[in-house]
Amino acid sequence: MFDDISLRYDFLNHTLSCFRDISWRNSCCKELKQLNPGKRVLDLCGGTGDFINTYHKHIGQTEKSILGDFSFGMLSCAKKKNIQTTPIQLDAMKMPFGENIFDVVLNGFGMRNLPDTEIGLKEAYRVLSPGGFLVVLDFFSPRNKFNTFFYKRLAPLFIPFLGAFFSKKRSAYEYLLSSIQNFLTVKNFLDLAENNGFKVVLEKPCDFGIAYRIILQKEL
Ligand SMILES: C[S@@+](CC[C@H](N)C(=O)[O-])C[C@H]1O[C@@H](n2cnc3c(N)ncnc32)[C@H](O)[C@@H]1O
Repeated sequence: MFDDISLRYDFLNHTLSCFRDISWRNSCCKELKQLNPGKRVLDLCGGTGDFINTYHKHIGQTEKSILGDFSFGMLSCAKKKNIQTTPIQLDAMKMPFGENIFDVVLNGFGMRNLPDTEIGLKEAYRVLSPGGFLVVLDFFSPRNKFNTFFYKRLAPLFIPFLGAFFSKKRSAYEYLLSSIQNFLTVKNFLDLAENNGFKVVLEKPCDFGIAYRIILQKEL
């Protein structure tokens, strides 16, 4: 599915979020910078590379920078942007890396797409070094009044329509909405992360809960 929409992904991502996705990634990286992260970074489910690109802009040079994604099409789009990172086609549920080798794992809008969130969290935990950070930016199952209204009433009126118009893949944008409804709530996600050894360092709503920024830390 991501291969099919890869060429229009960035355009639709920015348009459907009214360009707010850019500001959300910026905020994540500024907040992470305050925590003085190490220099080995993996952008997991990194797609066309916007998160790792933002990371480089705010946090600067890295010792190791890897862009990992399932979709060859998405990685090919990232390559065209000349980002200083190494693209690797991989499965976030079973990564081809040893333990404790990254200081930061970014995951922008990817957790929701994994067939098993807990396995995804365990894998991120495994590859992180002790004290390393997992930064999650995603849409969670709506709970407050605003995001419930937005995702249940408003978004279905325009997201599949615009997605179909610009990418010709209506099903991908219907999937986007159903994946949000079917995903965990923020609270359930944080409980799951804590049950798998992470400490919650930061949890902040973006634009009244349309998305959330979460920073988790692997125990020292
Ligand atoms: C919504 S896009 C997010 C892209 C990017 N991180 C961003 O901030 O825009 C989700 C990405 O997750 C990738 N993905 C889905 N399942 C995956 C898996 N099991 N392993 C690796 N990548 C996966 C998709 O190929 C897609 O590029």
